[in-house]
Amino acid sequence: MKNITIYDSITIKNKNHWKQNRELKKIKNAIGGIRVKVLLVNGSPHEKGCTYTALSEVAKTLNEEEIDTEIFWIGKKPLTGCTACKSCAKTGLCAFNDRVNDFLNIAKDADGFIFGSPVHYAAAGGAITSFMDCVFYADLQGGRQSFYLKPAAAVVSARRAGTTATLDQLNKYFTISEMPIVSSRYWNMVHGAKPENVKKDLEGLQIMRVLARNMAWFLKCKEAGMKAGVQLPMKEKSIYTNFIRE
Ligand SMILES: Cc1cc2nc3c(=O)[nH]c(=O)nc-3n(C[C@H](O)[C@H](O)[C@H](O)COP(=O)(O)O)c2cc1C
Repeated sequence: MKNITIYDSITIKNKNHWKQNRELKKIKNAIGGIRVKVLLVNGSPHEKGCTYTALSEVAKTLNEEEIDTEIFWIGKKPLTGCTACKSCAKTGLCAFNDRVNDFLNIAKDADGFIFGSPVHYAAAGGAITSFMDCVFYADLQGGRQSFYLKPAAAVVSARRAGTTATLDQLNKYFTISEMPIVSSRYWNMVHGAKPENVKKDLEGLQIMRVLARNMAWFLKCKEAGMKAGVQLPMKEKSIYTNFIRE
């Protein structure tokens, strides 16, 4: 596994920019280098099913590119949708202390993300949808910034149909979170009702490998850019307007 060198040449334009930039903070605080790691979320009820088989191909290829990986399974226990209690705004964690919080506690140290889901009724599975609603909302409300400018991609597994609609659904979490989406040579999908089917989906597996190499390339470019002193974008104070005004 590769050790990424410490960044010592970062220039900071102003204090506010620095404060808003937890990514830079992490880099500046790193002693002896940081490791680049991609977290891969298995949003299936099957721990070692089709989604896992696709994610494993991504992980294996990332490892070949000297990127660390961890596959995080959301598990089989019921996950509630967001109840909009907003306790996450105070604690930075979800009120329901489940796999959402387990993930939030490790997400901030990851450098890239792949979210995998089986297709259920031409959409992402119910559990991964609840999981992602709570993860992204708690992260935003709690001001964690675990996802800001970190590359992301969605991977889906279906027996037959509903894949592109599911990809559209999952990509929306990334684009609202300022995450650059990494793409492959086709839409990121594999087909199968069981892992043995996916292993025969040679095109699907190749899509996974191309995705992994593209993500590795992006992460290396980001590292090189920051090392060369390229600033992260200036952050504006958020403007938040509702459509309906009283
Ligand atoms: C509740 C449910 C709904 C499903 N809906 C679809 C669907 O709309 N389209 C499809 O092609 N496959 C559908 N499937 C099949 C799975 O998406 C497919 O077998 C997938 O590869 C399973 O991935 P996994 O092993 O990671 O869970 C559905 C399966 C379940 C359990």
